[in-house]
Amino acid sequence: MSALSGSPEGAAVTGLDATRVAVPGEDLAVAEVPELPEQARAEARQIMARYPRARSALLPMLHLVQSYQGYVTPEGIALCAEELGITKAEVGAVATFYTMYKRRPTGRHIVSVCTNTLCAALGGERIFHALSEDLGVRHDETAADGSVTLEHAECLAACDYAPVVTVDYEFYDQQDVKSARLLVAALRRGEKPHPTRGAPLTDFRGISRQLAGFSQHADDAAARAAVDAPGEYGPTVIGVHLADERGESAPPLPAAQKPAPDAGVPAATVHPGGEAGQSPGQEAADAREAAADTPAEKAGAARSHPDSPEPAGRRTPDGATGTDTPAGQEPGTQGQGSPVEQGKGKSGKRKA
Ligand code: FES
Repeated sequence: MSALSGSPEGAAVTGLDATRVAVPGEDLAVAEVPELPEQARAEARQIMARYPRARSALLPMLHLVQSYQGYVTPEGIALCAEELGITKAEVGAVATFYTMYKRRPTGRHIVSVCTNTLCAALGGERIFHALSEDLGVRHDETAADGSVTLEHAECLAACDYAPVVTVDYEFYDQQDVKSARLLVAALRRGEKPHPTRGAPLTDFRGISRQLAGFSQHADDAAARAAVDAPGEYGPTVIGVHLADERGESAPPLPAAQKPAPDAGVPAATVHPGGEAGQSPGQEAADAREAAADTPAEKAGAARSHPDSPEPAGRRTPDGATGTDTPAGQEPGTQGQGSPVEQGKGKSGKRKA
């Protein structure tokens, strides 16, 4: 049985009985964690098949692991490494870089309180301290009943709704101490207050599954209806409404300037020490290779180079190995660095 709590929605998609919560005083950090089922490996391969280079699948694969086990376990790291043909250290380096990947068991919900500049000025710190008191936990800790993991968050990109709280990355806007306390109390009772905007609340495992690219909805129409659920968008569009009332409009964009008749093709930009046309990722990888002292360091730098070939022996759902697309020439990747670098902005950000 799962020691991690979860909602019926999450259990429905993961197939796990995730209803148990820890009793008061139980140490969730040492509680039993369910083993990864074979279905998880099959789904990991489905994710890998979506990418020209399998390694690009690492970020959603880590979300997949969390959807089954509630955090990135050593077993989950090993699965990712085996399937991608990379080392566990390389998987661990990614998993520990992003704050959305959890390193110990989480509660049913993740409550993130923005305490960045604008939210802090408008009461974010007071909200965090009130919730911390109610739950008896500090940053990145889980309440004894297993209901909620509380965390500080950096700017959640919703400053016009400050102070902002998210639950499983869904927004609860313009909170104050009282409303945030009521929200968390409802979560602990097993309720799911509708977010201010966006899709309905699920739970941490459920949202992890969505982040891995597996829909929780019956079909596309249901998914679309969830995403387009009614929401409050007042602060974001208030400027548009005011301008409308006042009859104001933005000045037209200046016409595009034509190039001078004798303007030729600009010379390729060459970074000092780099080659023309190289991306910053390729230049950095070249520098890592040049600086490697030991054979192990050289091998590691070569493996992580954007121009390196797909690791031999990678398994794909159809049994093929590697990729037919030469490294660095995948569609849409020119000049954008390595696939893992491209994924950074979508999978969360490193806490400052
Ligand atoms: S400072 Fe809180 S959302 Fe930007």
